[in-house]
Amino acid sequence: MSMFAPAACSVRAISAPTRRAPPVISTTWSRSGEFSILGFMHHNDTAMPSQRELMLNDEQARHCARMHEHLTALIAESQGWLSFERFMDAALYAPGLGYYSAGARKLGASGDFTTAPELSALFGACVAGQCAEVLGALAGGSILEIGAGSGRLAVDILSRLEVLGRLPDRYWILEISADLRERQRRLVQRCCPGQSMRVGWLDRPPEESFDGLILANEVLDALPVQRFRWHREGVLELGVRIEDGRFAWAPRPAAKSLAAACRRLHQAGWEEGYVSEYCPRLEAWTKSVTRSLRKGAALWFDYGLPRSQYYLPERHEGTLICHFRHRAHGDPFLYPGLQDITAWVDYTLLAEASREAGFTLGGFTTQSYLLAGLKVDEQMHAMAGDDANLFARLAGEARQLMLPGEMGERFKAMAWLRGLDLPLSGFALQDLRHTL
Ligand SMILES: C[S@@+](CC[C@H](N)C(=O)[O-])C[C@H]1O[C@@H](n2cnc3c(N)ncnc32)[C@H](O)[C@@H]1O
Repeated sequence: MSMFAPAACSVRAISAPTRRAPPVISTTWSRSGEFSILGFMHHNDTAMPSQRELMLNDEQARHCARMHEHLTALIAESQGWLSFERFMDAALYAPGLGYYSAGARKLGASGDFTTAPELSALFGACVAGQCAEVLGALAGGSILEIGAGSGRLAVDILSRLEVLGRLPDRYWILEISADLRERQRRLVQRCCPGQSMRVGWLDRPPEESFDGLILANEVLDALPVQRFRWHREGVLELGVRIEDGRFAWAPRPAAKSLAAACRRLHQAGWEEGYVSEYCPRLEAWTKSVTRSLRKGAALWFDYGLPRSQYYLPERHEGTLICHFRHRAHGDPFLYPGLQDITAWVDYTLLAEASREAGFTLGGFTTQSYLLAGLKVDEQMHAMAGDDANLFARLAGEARQLMLPGEMGERFKAMAWLRGLDLPLSGFALQDLRHTL
């Protein structure tokens, strides 16, 4: 292990929650423009991780240094100022270097974060119930999963659909990460070899149209965002520049498009210096990945809020959050290329995107109500059978998935429907569409 890291990648302070942690509302943004995560410790955090826990091995340090060089070159090419959107894009997707393009472990105990399907097979079993309903109404069809991580959700869905006798014609995975694709392939082979012929991988949205479902869990939060700072006399866009060899936030007057977006997002009560994010590519991206769905549903699962809550005056430091070795923090400059960088989803923007893409809104609810509507209790009994220990373990997992202080409320689900008018069980118990 080496403590070496390029100047811009130095460890300052970092908190301890996992991806299930609360929003990054306690990062600090000082008026001087210096961004700090020293104030990020959440009251649930028990201990500051030691420097040793955050050490990079030699290979990681070299990777971080190469990414630093790449980003520095991008900044230089754009006359010393790079929009945060482009910085985030490169940090996540630069070929061979970005967090999702290079070989970082990402999910699971030895990775950086845990997601709902990784936490429990109950999530996939419930989502499979929703898929079965849609595939039943369409009398067949295929599934396209975007960003399948370790492949756990795919395996759990296929296993459950087999039991329900509702297997899709094909299960496509659109995955941009080569190492995750390999991991998915191995998991599918190991856990449902009988279905592996059905599963195929894509590196771009399918050309041919199909009927069925599109699923994406925790993918929208990775779409690069613009960062803005609101002032009465004008909106500033926060970009990145190099200062003493380190990345530093650098404001400059926002372009017309971002200033216009901020006028739509603005709420009474925003104070001078209010900072938040806006995702300008959400509409085009969702439109492109759903274009080939002729008839069926797209189901989006992610952490996020309707706009009225997302841009509350109290949330004045935005929702940007990074994950590194199961630590959540607010400093995207810490280990670019080695850490995930995310922002919460503005579900009102996602609802607007559904109309632009030619869908109707089939439902919007919390993860808690989604799973309750998909009969998580019955899934637990079916999975545990007579095994009391297994039942107790599943009950614990269900609590993590559903309790408001865990993943139950901050994670939401939204359904888009195209060419299909169908009440969806996952959205039947609670309808939050009026909040959008
Ligand atoms: C946070 S992981 C979630 C993985 C999985 N869905 C889960 O819930 O465990 C994000 C996934 O989306 C993929 N991804 C990230 N950005 C993407 C993009 N722009 N297009 C397609 N996939 C993307 C990543 O490679 C990864 O598989």
